[in-house]
Amino acid sequence: MNNGSDFCGATATSNPTKERMAKNNNTFYNQFTIEEYYINKEPFYLPVADEMQLFEAAYNGQIPILLKGPTGTGKTRFVEYMAWKLSRPLTIVKNNQGKDSNAKNGIPLVTIACHEDLTASDLVGRYLLDAEGTRWMDGPLARAVKSGAICYLDEIVEARKDTTVLIHPLADHRRTLPVEKQGIVLEAKKGFQLVISYNPGYQSALKDLKESTRQRFIAIEFSPPPPAVEAEIIRKESGCTAAHARSLAKLGEKVRNLQDHGLKEGASTRILIYAGKLISQGISPKRACHVSVVWGITDDAEVQRSVEEIVTAIFAN
Ligand SMILES: Nc1ncnc2c1ncn2[C@@H]1O[C@H](COP(=O)(O)OP(=O)(O)OP(=O)(O)O)[C@@H](O)[C@H]1O
Ligand SMILES: [Mg+2]
Repeated sequence: MNNGSDFCGATATSNPTKERMAKNNNTFYNQFTIEEYYINKEPFYLPVADEMQLFEAAYNGQIPILLKGPTGTGKTRFVEYMAWKLSRPLTIVKNNQGKDSNAKNGIPLVTIACHEDLTASDLVGRYLLDAEGTRWMDGPLARAVKSGAICYLDEIVEARKDTTVLIHPLADHRRTLPVEKQGIVLEAKKGFQLVISYNPGYQSALKDLKESTRQRFIAIEFSPPPPAVEAEIIRKESGCTAAHARSLAKLGEKVRNLQDHGLKEGASTRILIYAGKLISQGISPKRACHVSVVWGITDDAEVQRSVEEIVTAIFAN
């Protein structure tokens, strides 16, 4: 993460709040409230199929979206990109200082990493006790609903079933979130979009999505991109040469063919980018692939040997 104004590829819009720059042990860091967390710098995203059109159509039709696919195939990057893209008006109106006056009207992105201890209160909110007494604090889901954000629930199957059903009224025509503890129902603001993701590869049957949950979403499948597209992604993201990027994409394709031979999931685009970054930092291609791809994707010595052989066949040094 860089220590400038960027934070995970996102920057806050104008109107700095009191908390924007906090000082902590001489370290400056950015802090945004959920409602002002906009992606206003274009994230790099290379489309693989018609996912952009599908997302936009679903967004306009208020249809919840499920993104599924193996690790490192660009699901999170895609959501960030779409939050940026949908925030852009077709006509950019400049104010008298030459600034994009629509920049403030973006769509916030709220990301929630699901885990098995995630409770309904963690999502919706809870009463807190402080010096002044009891006060209510909205959870991230309630805040996303109120601010018309894109709410991205990452690895949804990790959440407990009782937590998952909480999103049911939000994920159908009602678009509401009951807040039982306050005795109220929140109606989602226009623009609110529910996006969930999961990796079907390593989910057990027990952890599968309930039918009544999954059938509330359209599903966009992510898979490793074709080699030419993947090479371009690797080049752009890692800064390595086009020739190295092509070789890494080839390595990725060949390693994925080992999937039925003891490998749970092939080399992700993410891990190939890591190799590219090491190469562009001066590490030899073979060594870079060794520590990222060979050791990174498996602990099985036999599979490691097979991957190593592919690396040696592709890279001379
Ligand atoms: N189509 C793409 N365009 C641009 N970058 C991509 C694309 N696909 C993958 N990437 C790159 O791969 C990296 C991994 O992607 P990302 O984190 O979005 O994967 P993910 O599918 O969300 O993985 P996980 O399931 O592990 O969360 C990104 O940081 C980005 O650099
Ligand atoms: Mg992700």
